[in-house]
Amino acid sequence: MSLASVVCGLFAYILTQGKNSPAGQPQFQAGSPNQGGIAMGQPQPQYQWGNQGGVPAGPTKFPPQGPQEHSFSQTQDGLLHDTSSLREILAYIQGQTPLGTKEGHRKLLKMKAAILTLFLIFMIASPCLCNDLGKVFNVISYGAVGNGKTDDTKAFAKAWEAMCNANGITSLIIPKGKIFLLNPVQFKGPCKATKVLVQVGGTIAASANLKTWTDNEKWIHFETVDGLVINGGGQIDGQGSVWWNACSDKKHCDDRPTALHFHNCNGLQLSNLRHLNSQRNHISISGCKGVKINNLRISAPEDSPNTDGIDISTSSNIEVLNTVMETGDDCIAINGGSSNITISGVACGPGHGISIGSLGKNGAFDTVEEVHMRNCTFKGTQNAARIKTWQGGKGYARKISYENIQIINSQNPIIIDQNYNPYSLNANAQSAVEISDVTFRNVYGTSVDEIAIDLVCSDHFGCSNIVLNNIDIKSAIPGKQTISRCNNAHGSTLSLCTPIVPCLSH
Ligand SMILES: *[C@@H]1O[C@H](CO)[C@@H](O)[C@H](O)[C@H]1NC(C)=O
Ligand SMILES: *[C@@H]1O[C@H](CO)[C@@H](O)[C@H](O)[C@H]1NC(C)=O
Repeated sequence: MSLASVVCGLFAYILTQGKNSPAGQPQFQAGSPNQGGIAMGQPQPQYQWGNQGGVPAGPTKFPPQGPQEHSFSQTQDGLLHDTSSLREILAYIQGQTPLGTKEGHRKLLKMKAAILTLFLIFMIASPCLCNDLGKVFNVISYGAVGNGKTDDTKAFAKAWEAMCNANGITSLIIPKGKIFLLNPVQFKGPCKATKVLVQVGGTIAASANLKTWTDNEKWIHFETVDGLVINGGGQIDGQGSVWWNACSDKKHCDDRPTALHFHNCNGLQLSNLRHLNSQRNHISISGCKGVKINNLRISAPEDSPNTDGIDISTSSNIEVLNTVMETGDDCIAINGGSSNITISGVACGPGHGISIGSLGKNGAFDTVEEVHMRNCTFKGTQNAARIKTWQGGKGYARKISYENIQIINSQNPIIIDQNYNPYSLNANAQSAVEISDVTFRNVYGTSVDEIAIDLVCSDHFGCSNIVLNNIDIKSAIPGKQTISRCNNAHGSTLSLCTPIVPCLSH
């Protein structure tokens, strides 16, 4: 396409040529003690837990190693450095420098240094060369102040409107090094632009003064924007503690906004951002098709109420990759109307694990299918892999797989609950959300509770084709054993399974 792409390609080539040692590649360090023939190889997740000893303590290191640290470099500083070295390289290539002499050797060393320098410069500069920002709309130009005190909501809305009405590729720039205070705001499409980039370099913070809130359902809301790309290395801070504190009163607790909501945004890409301390859930995605989420870090304290990481509903073709989540509730929750969801390289903990459901509340017809989770780690979580459906619900949860899952000190590593009914609503209802074709493969680690595998299915319907293949979940407590529990679960175990699950065939 452009010169920039060629340059990027060239350096990508040099990068791959130079990579002859695996030492520089991120390793999956969570240390499975015994892989028992499980071919894990080098799993994908690019994060490291701060403490490998099995005790859920210590901060996690972030950002995950990788080029995302550079991805927001907007300046092109440094690009013109060291042209003398460049001249020497050219001279060498053109054969003007004698080889095999001291002089030649010195030049060779210099050349190596020059190549390295140039390489580093391009590593830093290439993402911005590769990324065509198109027409740029900087919120500062629309009156945003970014001092963390002035309300910048109007400026953002104006910048959005201008951008959304421009043609071609457009970018909204939220610059680095500033804190923008935003009250509830809606960014609505459809936009004229073919591609809408939002580069969050700085911090977007919510008001911590509850009196200023006009909309308690949403904070930042994107709707009907196709081809939206949000990244930039900045952060989105919900300042949630003021809301959590109000949770002693249930009414106030229910009445809290989602921090970042996407509704009806097809082709959304969200990456390289930090989300913290949401008022309620951090990110919710509804009515979207084709979403790619990559390289986020989501964090809220373990005891913060309902601070889910990512909630997905009525959406399909969703990928969530390489993301670290520390939350007070589900890391990811997949709700009704969702299909074709891939989750890979997610590190969850603390939190309540990755849940499908709850589905079928109040007799609702809910469907979830084709959910595939791979290469994920759960550390100190309440649950790890969970499917929960309400008693009396309808619909199905099927074609679900969990593969290469490491669990460190979770309370309920594998749990299916088809009788979910915490408030004993219509407890005699005979219908259930059908649960079938669920595979757990290469799931290993430790459980805090004795019951490591809990398959509680409805007396009337049961679960079918539950497959356990290569499961090894030991007790986190030395000298103790784990057990399984079954109610009307059907399916099979293939190969090793610790604990044993007698209700499934062998
Ligand atoms: C998971 O890890 C395996 C083993 O390293 C790797 O081959 C595979 O590509 C990874 N899968 C995903 C979806 O990242
Ligand atoms: C599932 O989603 C992926 C993107 O995550 C997409 O590439 C693929 O085509 C989808 N599969 C189906 C059957 O729609």
